[in-house]
Amino acid sequence: MGEARGARCGRLILAAGWLLAAAACRQDMHNGPVGQPLRESLFVKGASTSRMPVEGTVARGTLKDDEAFFTGKQAGAAANALPFALTAQILDRGEERFNIYCTPCHGLSGQGDGMIVRRGYRLPPSFHVDRMRQAPLGHFYDVMTNGFGAMPDYRAQIAPRDRWAIAAYVRALQLSQHAAAADVPAEERQKLSQPAAAPAAAGEHKR
Ligand code: HEC
Repeated sequence: MGEARGARCGRLILAAGWLLAAAACRQDMHNGPVGQPLRESLFVKGASTSRMPVEGTVARGTLKDDEAFFTGKQAGAAANALPFALTAQILDRGEERFNIYCTPCHGLSGQGDGMIVRRGYRLPPSFHVDRMRQAPLGHFYDVMTNGFGAMPDYRAQIAPRDRWAIAAYVRALQLSQHAAAADVPAEERQKLSQPAAAPAAAGEHKR
């Protein structure tokens, strides 16, 4: 009995020894001629292992072939139309994005009185001055894409489609401050001359 156990033990030690020996032999792939990134290539003389893409290479999904959509410009001049159809959803999206990204400086109504400005940041122009009202839509897109003077660009934070949605919303903001009574649909117009509903709580109208 003791002898049998001794023999089994011996076999186990032998097997473990073989395993260790075999593991030590598995070095072939580890020391292979692998190219190290940014080192000299083993295949192309004088070149790096990290090759430059062929000129004009476009990564999948990044082709920017629609000039007006991606630059806000058409043949070098700022485009003055949305590059896609305007819907209520796009305006809503523009309002939401504007309130997130632009109001800290430009204020909720675009007067340029955002909280950061009130704390000392450079005063932006109001969106309701003539120059801004006459600026083509593509100018707003361009300012968001490339920044303008003291204003940083928002190309990393806001996708191209959202930049257009914001531009459309800024135009709506501008109209909201310069609308004439005749712009209001006839069936809504009579409401304009009606007195506003009484404030819910005393003093609320002072806000
Ligand atoms: C950190 C503050 C800040 C934020 C946020 C900001 N702006 Fe501005 N913006 C400015 C300042 C400051 C100027 C004036 C820059 C100057 O004249 O040097 C300006 C100028 C502009 C102008 C006028 C360019 C011209 O022709 O004079 C437009 C349009 C504009 N911003 C749009 C936007 C929009 C849209 C957003 C949101 C995506 C935005 N800005 C977010 C600070 C900001």
